[in-house]
Amino acid sequence: MANAAGLDAFKEIHETETKTTGRKLKIGIIGTGWIAECHAENYLKMDDVEIVALADLIPGKAAAFAERFGITGARIYESDEAMIAAEPDLDGVSICTYNCQHAPCAIHALDAGINVMLEKPFTVTLDEAIEVMRAEKRSGKILTIGFQPRMSANMQMIKKIVQSGELGKVYYIQSGGGRRRGIPTPFGTSFIEKGTGGIGAVGDIGTYSLDMLLGAVGYPKPLTVTGYTSSYFGKDPNYYPGHPDYAEKFGVDDFAAGFIRLEGDIILDFRISWAMNMDTPGDAIILGTRGGLRIPSTDCWNGEFDEPLTIYKTVCGEEIEYKVPLKPTKDLFYEKIRSFVDAIQQGGKPSVPSSEIVINQAIIDGIVRSAAAGHEIAIEIPEV
Ligand SMILES: NC(=O)c1ccc[n+]([C@@H]2O[C@H](COP(=O)([O-])OP(=O)(O)OC[C@H]3O[C@@H](n4cnc5c(N)ncnc54)[C@H](O)[C@@H]3O)[C@@H](O)[C@H]2O)c1
Repeated sequence: MANAAGLDAFKEIHETETKTTGRKLKIGIIGTGWIAECHAENYLKMDDVEIVALADLIPGKAAAFAERFGITGARIYESDEAMIAAEPDLDGVSICTYNCQHAPCAIHALDAGINVMLEKPFTVTLDEAIEVMRAEKRSGKILTIGFQPRMSANMQMIKKIVQSGELGKVYYIQSGGGRRRGIPTPFGTSFIEKGTGGIGAVGDIGTYSLDMLLGAVGYPKPLTVTGYTSSYFGKDPNYYPGHPDYAEKFGVDDFAAGFIRLEGDIILDFRISWAMNMDTPGDAIILGTRGGLRIPSTDCWNGEFDEPLTIYKTVCGEEIEYKVPLKPTKDLFYEKIRSFVDAIQQGGKPSVPSSEIVINQAIIDGIVRSAAAGHEIAIEIPEV
C-alpha cells in the first residue's frame, strides 16, 4: 500500500511539473490598498512568480507599498492604463481597486492579452459584468474572481451535500448572517462612497452569501427580484466617532433584502447587513424534499465556520438531525492566489468563472434596481 501511495504521489507531482510553463510568471498589482497586501503576501510565497509592476492612482502609494513588502525591483505606475501600456509581457494582474474601477481595469487588462484575477464583487452593475465577459471572450485569457471562501473545505461540503441529492429537490433557500456594526471604514471611505464603492453591503458581503448558496444549487438563473435597500446607519453622523463627515459621504446601502425567483422553481429569501439592530437575522437554510440543511449564521459565507452544519431528515418515520463535523481550513487567500497562478502556469480553467458570478451580479443588480423602482422586476442576462 505504501508503495502504491508513493507512486500516486509521484505521478501527481510529475504531471503537475510537466504541465507548467517552467518559468517565473510576471505579475502586476493594480490598486495597492488594503486587499492588495493579501495578494502581494501570497505571491511572495511562491517561487514561480515575481511581482514586476505596481500601480495606484494616489501618487507615492504604490512606491510605499513596494518598499513595505520589499518589492523594490517592481516598476511603479500611476494608473492601470499606464502599467498596461508599458508592460506588454505581464502574465497576469491582480485587480485590487475599489469596486467602481473593477470593470474598466479588467477590460483594459484583458484587451491587452493579460490574465486577470479580479477582486470581488465582480463589478457594480450587471451591464459592466457583461462588458468584462465580452473582453474575456475577445481575449481568450483567464478571468477569475476573488472568492476565497470557495477554497474552504466546509464551503465545498455544502455544495457536495446538495449535489449528492441528500436533500432531494431544493425548493427554498434563506440566506443568513450579517453584521450588527460593521460598515467598513478602517482605511477611509472607498467602500461607502457611491463614486468608488458603487454598491454597499449587498455587493461587499452579500456577494459572498449569494455565492455560498447559489454555488450549492448550481447557480440557477434569476427570473424575478423584489429588492430593498436602506442606509439608516451609514447616513447617521453618530455612527462614526471622530468621523461624522463620513455620514455625508455615505452613498451606498448598509442593509439589503430580496425575494428572488430562480429557474428550477427555487425561491431565494435574501438579506445582508453591514449594520442593524440585531445580532444576526438567523442561519442560512436550504430546504429540500428529502432533507434540510442549516448553515450556522455569523460570517459562515466568509469561509469561517465556527459551528458544524446540521442536516435534518426523516429516517424510518423518525425525524432526526445530524451534524457534519467541521473540516480544518486551509489558508484561503493563499489558495485563491495559487489557483490563479496554477491556471496560468498549466493553461487551466479559472477557479471562479465569470459565467457563474454573472448570475450573482444579476441578483445584486436586480436588488438595487428593484429597490429604486419600488416593485418587482424581471431579470434578463444579456448574451456575451
Ligand atoms: N476578498 C476579500 O476578502 C476582500 C477584502 C477586502 C476588500 N476586497 C475588495 O478589494 C477591493 C479593494 O478594496 P481595498 O480595501 O483594498 O480598497 P482601497 O481603497 O484600500 O484600495 C484600492 C486602491 O485602488 C486604487 N485604484 C483605484 N483605481 C485605480 C486604477 N484605475 N489604477 C490604479 N489604482 C487604482 C486606489 O487609489 C486605492 O489605493 C474592493 O473591491 C473590495 O471589495 C476584497
